[in-house]
Amino acid sequence: MNSIGQQFLNQTKHSNLDPSDQYLGKPQPPIQLKFDENQPVIKLTKPSQIINESVDVRKIIEQRKSIRNYSQVPLTVDQLSYLLWCTQGVKEIIQGTATIRNVPSAGARHALETYLLINNVDGITPGLYRFLVLEHSLIPVLLDKDIADKITKACLNQKFVKSSAVTFIWIAVPYRMNWRYGERGYRYLYLDAGHVCQNLYLSAEAINCGTCAIAAFLDDEMNQILGLDGKEAFVIYLATVGTK
Ligand SMILES: Cc1cc2nc3c(=O)[nH]c(=O)nc-3n(C[C@H](O)[C@H](O)[C@H](O)COP(=O)(O)O)c2cc1C
Repeated sequence: MNSIGQQFLNQTKHSNLDPSDQYLGKPQPPIQLKFDENQPVIKLTKPSQIINESVDVRKIIEQRKSIRNYSQVPLTVDQLSYLLWCTQGVKEIIQGTATIRNVPSAGARHALETYLLINNVDGITPGLYRFLVLEHSLIPVLLDKDIADKITKACLNQKFVKSSAVTFIWIAVPYRMNWRYGERGYRYLYLDAGHVCQNLYLSAEAINCGTCAIAAFLDDEMNQILGLDGKEAFVIYLATVGTK
């Protein structure tokens, strides 16, 4: 009997796929999840206005390591804006149906969205936020006092979630990928998440911050905290960031 993993690999082989919804002519899902447009947004520093020192790419790659201890120096909004730009930034919108970003994505589907647990960012009330990639802005999702504790607990009590300045929480919206690729699209969601997190590691290193990826979390609890059904959208990966 094949393991679940082997069954997944087998059933998502090209030879075993059903025709995708795109192939069947079904309409494409939107490139960003809906949000309440009447809600006030927090505008982030425009990517063109973020000032960066130039860095040596090789040095940054070689220095990168997972960092779980952070100073209590807050991140600035500029730094947060930079990290969001490097991990998801939209460089081009093609005919309203696809985006070209600073990270690669299978078929430019970009089926991930970013939530942030903000603990220690200058001028931003701690809480759970959603990043609006097309607006390069944040909207508050939950500003409950115990949100950091809840998310830390759902990450199997990995304490550095609570002591991070910000924890990136990436969610996947599988139909955005699977509309084109069917069940094989699930493979691509995880590959895409890896690229995004690596960009976070490297861009954080470039601004003297540390990062640690997190895949050890309780799926149902994390989805419930973010208000996701676990099917149409689910938490796929997290990473903490703080100043070194
Ligand atoms: C997919 C993935 C999941 C990870 N999940 C966790 C995690 O839940 N908790 C943690 O402390 N580190 C986690 N890490 C960090 C690894 O432990 C770390 O990358 C590894 O020990 C190598 O160390 P380095 O990143 O400093 O080179 C994860 C890394 C990856 C790539």
